Amino acid sequence: MSDTNVTVTVGEETKDYAVLSGTVGPQVIDIRKLYANTGMFTYDPGFTSTASCDSGLTYIDGDEGVLLHRGYPIGQLAEQSSFMEVSYLLLNGELPSKAQLDDFTYTITRHTMVNEQLTAFYRGFRRDAHPMAIMCGVVGALSSFYHDSTDINDPDQRRIASHRLIAKMPTIAAMAFKYSVGQPFLYPRNDLSYTANFLRMTFGVPAEEYVPDPVIVDAMDKIFILHADHEQNASTSTVRLAGSSGANPFACIAAGIACLWGPAHGGANEAALNMLREIGTVDRIPEYIARAKNKDDPFRLMGFGHRVYKNYDPRATVMQKTAEDVLKTMGVTDPVFDVARELERIALSDPYFIEKKLFPNVDFYSGVILSAIGFPTEMFTVLFALARTVGWVAQWNEMISDPAQKIGRPRQLYTGPSQRDYVPLTQR
Ligand code: CMC
Repeated sequence: MSDTNVTVTVGEETKDYAVLSGTVGPQVIDIRKLYANTGMFTYDPGFTSTASCDSGLTYIDGDEGVLLHRGYPIGQLAEQSSFMEVSYLLLNGELPSKAQLDDFTYTITRHTMVNEQLTAFYRGFRRDAHPMAIMCGVVGALSSFYHDSTDINDPDQRRIASHRLIAKMPTIAAMAFKYSVGQPFLYPRNDLSYTANFLRMTFGVPAEEYVPDPVIVDAMDKIFILHADHEQNASTSTVRLAGSSGANPFACIAAGIACLWGPAHGGANEAALNMLREIGTVDRIPEYIARAKNKDDPFRLMGFGHRVYKNYDPRATVMQKTAEDVLKTMGVTDPVFDVARELERIALSDPYFIEKKLFPNVDFYSGVILSAIGFPTEMFTVLFALARTVGWVAQWNEMISDPAQKIGRPRQLYTGPSQRDYVPLTQR
């Protein structure tokens, strides 16, 4: 893969380092021998210039606003595919045939129930617990139930664990919601699609039949597709790092959920809707724009900006259109959507946002849709976790299947005290 070299000279010593090329995207300098050759580490907090792995799953061109899964543009997948199909694609590398998709969907459907004893875990949480706190705990606890799929060296066990995680996440997420509103848990129903089943387990009640609205099912499925994977973001890197030590897949995904919770990552959808509600009316937007630009104010426009996208996030394009469709179909007029659109318009014509290349990201419009569907804001990040589980699982599988895989172990620039002698307590 190496077409050229980079030369590094330290003192008298000059060494060549191979430059590796991927299919598309920036080349990388292979510095694996740098420490052995020079005794030096590289310094890159936040990994802004560091590729932590090679991967064939997802490609992002942040300058052009391109997102591809296994080569397919996200816009095409969101418009023409289904979440089950995208899940198959991410896990297996190719779009499924009709028979393969049916088989995969059948398998996932047959894993949607959770061990009945798991319901006892929920009762240990306060009723007002954040559902992401419940998700961290309950998903981690799966490893104590499914011992027959925790041997990471067995490809069959890895496959079963992957299917279990994708299948059980909607059940676990819906149960977190039900627990918070004090309603009975609903068991999954195998005659419904993945997404319709999730909506029923969330919004249905045992007392009457729940009929999923096809427009809402379609919108929800799109939202799942848009969140399915996003290459080496913080939570995916967390899953990979946790998995690199040989930890079982349930524990690794629980680690990913914990990382996703933060407001700079998956928690931004909740924060974005809270912000839009706080702004409330279009006339208050300039005040918030001014705050976002003020260096002395920690306030940021939530749902704006991205580490990789320096252009419109292609997921936000689909999300904006879906928000419009859902609100129209449901006959909802939400002033928050007007605030969002006007905020976007003003921010995109403001030199601060233009110069820093800050555009709406996936989280900017998702809250408007999810709120119209009936989800409380605390559930937003849970939905992100549900959908991202397939990406986490696919990335984890890719890493474990790589024979060259090693435990992840970053180095550091030490800035603490150099060696000194212990002073007994009586002499301090
Ligand atoms: N509002 C105002 N200013 C911003 C914003 C924002 N949302 N985002 C970045 N900036 C400014 C920032 O102050 C900095 O200015 P300066 O160079 O003068 O110091 C500059 O833009 C670069 O920001 P950064 O923090 O160095 O960029 P980053 O790549 O480390 O951060 C980010 C990316 C997503 C954490 C950040 O843009 C942010 O906090 N956005 C709001 C939270 C958000 O919407 N997160 C969801 C990300 S998409 C979903 C996901 O993948 O999880």
